Amino acid sequence: MKINNICCIGAGYVGGPTMSIIAQKCPDIKVTVVDLNEQRIALWNDADVNNIPIYEPGLSDIVAEARGRNLFFSTNVEKAIDEAQMIFISVNTPTKTYGLGKGMAADLKYIELCARQIASIAKDNKIVVEKSTLPVRTAEAIKNILDNTGNGVQFQILSNPEFLAEGTAVTDLLNPDRVLIGGDNTPEGAEAINALVEVYANWVPEKQILTTNLWSSELSKLTANAFLAQRVSSINAMSELCEKTGADVSEVARAIGMDSRIGSKFLKASVGFGGSCFQKDILNLVYIAKSYGLNEVADYWEQVIIMNDHQKRRFASSIVTTLYNTVSDKKIAFLGWAFKKDTNDTRESAAIYVADYLLNEQAKISVFDPQVKENKVLNDLNYLESRSSDLNQKGITVVEDPYEACKGAHAIAILTEWDEFKEYDWQKIYDNMQKPAFVFDGRNILDAKKMAGYGFIFQSVGSSN
Ligand code: NAD
Ligand code: UDX
Repeated sequence: MKINNICCIGAGYVGGPTMSIIAQKCPDIKVTVVDLNEQRIALWNDADVNNIPIYEPGLSDIVAEARGRNLFFSTNVEKAIDEAQMIFISVNTPTKTYGLGKGMAADLKYIELCARQIASIAKDNKIVVEKSTLPVRTAEAIKNILDNTGNGVQFQILSNPEFLAEGTAVTDLLNPDRVLIGGDNTPEGAEAINALVEVYANWVPEKQILTTNLWSSELSKLTANAFLAQRVSSINAMSELCEKTGADVSEVARAIGMDSRIGSKFLKASVGFGGSCFQKDILNLVYIAKSYGLNEVADYWEQVIIMNDHQKRRFASSIVTTLYNTVSDKKIAFLGWAFKKDTNDTRESAAIYVADYLLNEQAKISVFDPQVKENKVLNDLNYLESRSSDLNQKGITVVEDPYEACKGAHAIAILTEWDEFKEYDWQKIYDNMQKPAFVFDGRNILDAKKMAGYGFIFQSVGSSN
């Protein structure tokens, strides 16, 4: 079966970039990305391509090339489903905030809504592709809904998890380590798998396109994120021991990373991992393990989250203790709010939790992030419901100039590893601060000796300097 019409439900951080690359690489396929969020779709369609709702290096050029040719963004979900042979579901699957599994299980209500909508609209056979990250065996539930509420047409379900990381989405999509496709072990399943393999084969070498059964594919995505997050928690655990012993975590990371069995990537100690995926997916894994009665498996993975929460709290509390046990009414500058560099995404960013801790200590926080605007910062804090939005607004200001953020501050905390932070005139920043002037580098991007040379009292993660 040759695919020439694709629909993707969900125009977010995954649906938008993924479909833009498919459209760019497969000019013969019409790709329509649909979303209920009218504002988001309007931004994807904005005449000025720099206004697309997601900041990802290189993405606006690709959208400019394909949009209107074979890439379309729309709120007309029904029409796009009706016309497509292949429908990707790329909606959000957040942690449940209510009821059974609250705080752990993935909330699949958006997935179920999509399945029901596809079933009611489809008048011919469709291939439905799970692009969202889902608990293992979700395809079974989707199939049940499709088969029991549909119009008698045939559905094939595939699992095609996405491994892109934000900030590098375009290069990750153009040169993926692998593409994973899971499907049914039947002739119809194999045909559906092949149809999707052919789409990717337009730019991904076939040996990197891996096909498996549905459950292996679904579970591989949760496993990959759990392993990646575990590396960060492992190096962060060692960072605390380094600070006590005189070892330096960057040196330790380098030394172990040169062992080819360990590898050098993902060993940067930090203020803690953030982002919409790691915590959500591990909690989901823990919940799944518990639901099968596998308590040791659940406990093992839960430690990754416990360590990460500890790291965020530890960073915040060390600011308070170092500043003579009080930050009340002291200005603390935050450089960075995004959960990592090169993205405007702030979901689960460590900055939110460090700010919350310091606001409880009555600090006055001034934030600068090159890609994050004031309303997002306030929304992130309000979402925690730690205090009224009025109090949040009084405690935190967001400015558009880093020097302004740092002016008159007692301390600077670096929460995101934006490259530009390394290039600032740190002597000027020092001169305009309260003395003694402290810098807490939560990303280990600044040179300890140089910072001390300017006059700062400098602390980084995992080193006693
Ligand atoms: P997102 O919140 O940015 O986007 C999801 C979009 O789906 C939203 O715009 C929402 O309005 C839309 N939506 C929800 N229900 C809908 C419906 N019934 N009809 C139409 N639109 C609907 O989420 P995201 O970051 O793109 O993540 C999507 C999925 O991909 C999640 O399961 C996530 O775990 C997974 N994932 C994310 C990343 C990442 O880096 N963000 C990477 C890999 C996998
Ligand atoms: C992650 C996975 O990498 C990706 O494969 C998956 O599809 C989605 O989840 P993402 O969350 O976008 O991607 O970014 P990632 O680069 O994995 O970083 C996650 C968090 O870990 C960030 O807060 C980052 O700063 C932190 N991190 C990462 C570290 O603290 N140290 C490291 O060595 C690596």
